[in-house]
Parts: sequence; C-alpha cells; structure tokens
Amino acid sequence: MVGFGPGKVILLGEHGVVYGEPALAAPLSIGVTATALPAERCRVVSPKGLSAPHRRALEEAFARAALLTGAPKVQIGLESELPVSMGLGSSGAIAVALSRALLAASPLPAKKRPHELEVALAMEQVFHGTPSGVDHTTSAAGVPVLFQKGKVRPLTAKKPLDVLVALLGDRPSTKATVGGLRERQAKWPQRYRRQFKEIGLLVREGAAAIEAGELESLGDLMNLNQGLLAGLQLSSDRIDQMVRRLRGLGAHGAKLTGAGGDGGAIIGLFTDASAAVRTLTREGVRCFSSRLAG
Ligand code: PMV
Repeated sequence: MVGFGPGKVILLGEHGVVYGEPALAAPLSIGVTATALPAERCRVVSPKGLSAPHRRALEEAFARAALLTGAPKVQIGLESELPVSMGLGSSGAIAVALSRALLAASPLPAKKRPHELEVALAMEQVFHGTPSGVDHTTSAAGVPVLFQKGKVRPLTAKKPLDVLVALLGDRPSTKATVGGLRERQAKWPQRYRRQFKEIGLLVREGAAAIEAGELESLGDLMNLNQGLLAGLQLSSDRIDQMVRRLRGLGAHGAKLTGAGGDGGAIIGLFTDASAAVRTLTREGVRCFSSRLAG
C-alpha cells in the first residue's frame, strides 16, 4: 500500500494565516511516498540521514497516527524528494503520505476510520506545535487552495502557474520564527493585527487573480507581500538578494515562501521559468521549476 503527499509552496499569506487570515498555497509535483508492507507490528522506518531530533519527532508523530488508525500490522518506509526544513512543506507531505498509507492498511471498519486530514494534523502538531494547517491541507487537496483556519476552497487557475523555486540553504525552524513573531505581536498587537489584515487582503486579491489568469497582478501581489514580510523581520539580506535576482530574470513577482527568517526557499512566478532555471543553475544556485496548476 502506497501513500503520496506532495510538497507545497505558499504563494501568499504565510504567518498571517497563523492569526486567522487566509493564505494562498499550491502543491508541488514532488513530494513524499510512504510504502507499507506487512509486518509483525505497526512501525515506521526513518529515512537515512535524518537527524536524531527529526527521527524522534517522526516516531512520536507516527505513534499518534498509528493509534488513530487502529495500528495496522505494517512497516512503513518513506522516500522524499523534498529538501527538509526549507519551507516546501516536507513535514506536511510526510504527514499526508503516512496517513494515506496507514488508512489504506487500517483494520478499523470504514465508518470508524478517521479522515486523512485528522490523522495528518495530529502528526503536524508534533512537528510544529500549533500549525495553521495550511501545509498538510494543501498537500492533501492536491490543487491550489485558498486556506483559512478550518476552511479550504479549491481554486481553478485560468492560466498555468509556473514557479521557480530557489533553495538558499539552512534556515531557522518554523517554530522559532513563528515564536519570534508572536513575541513582537504580543507587544504591539494592534499594529501587527493591521499588517496581518493587509496580508489577508493581498491573499483574497491573489485568489481572484489566479481565477482570472492575471499573472502580472498575482506577481505584483507577491512583491507587496514580500515587502510586508520584510517589515515583519522575516526576510534577510540573502533572501532579498535572491528575490531581486528573480525579478531581474523576468519574474512577474518573487518572495520568500514558508516561515522565512533567513535561508529557505524563494519563489518567482514566471510565464516560462526554464531560461531562469538554466541561468541560475549555471551560477551554482540550487533551483527547479514546478507547474502548480494548469
Ligand atoms: O513550515 P513552513 O516554512 O512551511 O511555514 C508554514 C507557514 C507559516 O504560516 C509560517 C506557519 C503556519 O503554521 O502556517
């Protein structure tokens, strides 16, 4: 039994989504595959090269998911094409892939089986504490979504959405970056509430732009969102440099994606990203393009 969970990019709205605003996210074509084989007891085999803290988190998350799905007698192996801790939703993809494989093998009667989102959320809570849920919800949806805590609206893109994803390298954990922002907003709640509301407005306009096929407008919204993220101290020199580079290479818009802070992944929205991927690859930048819809 095999379960697949795609990675994701947040096109607009990270962080605001933690405070109840909407976010716009879409699945990548690459992700995590979980393969279940019959075994004596329910267990997960950690992928090679996983650090000790990540392995412990995976085992704890898996134990919760196993409990929810009736602990089927399978051993589950994981294969991931996603870089870890880059903002591309690798933990959400693991959670979705594992919940799909566990549910496919579950001994529980169909009526008693939980929904895959419930199982995946239980795992995400181990990985991230109090996640908004945007990562695993987008992974499970498999199409671009407008997400707001507890609600998800699938979007139909009028034109293909091509992004270039540039990987800058290690970044602080999502927990640490979200925690730092939480401290600042607790000091000045009204001021921060205004910024989150503005991000939410960009997201709603972005959903309309996707449905109308207005790539130039969507790119402009991404640029404005990057400005707000930088104002919230979630950007850095190397993020800003790559954002400018992608705009210089013809992106309609570019921004960090995910928690940010420093490093991680940067996205640029292109009509056709292939020339920019070739140029950056020649310069030694780790990058790839992905069609998010259309
Ligand atoms: O873990 P990341 O980098 O994909 O960030 C998730 C997006 C945040 O809005 C920063 C956190 C959340 O829980 O939504």
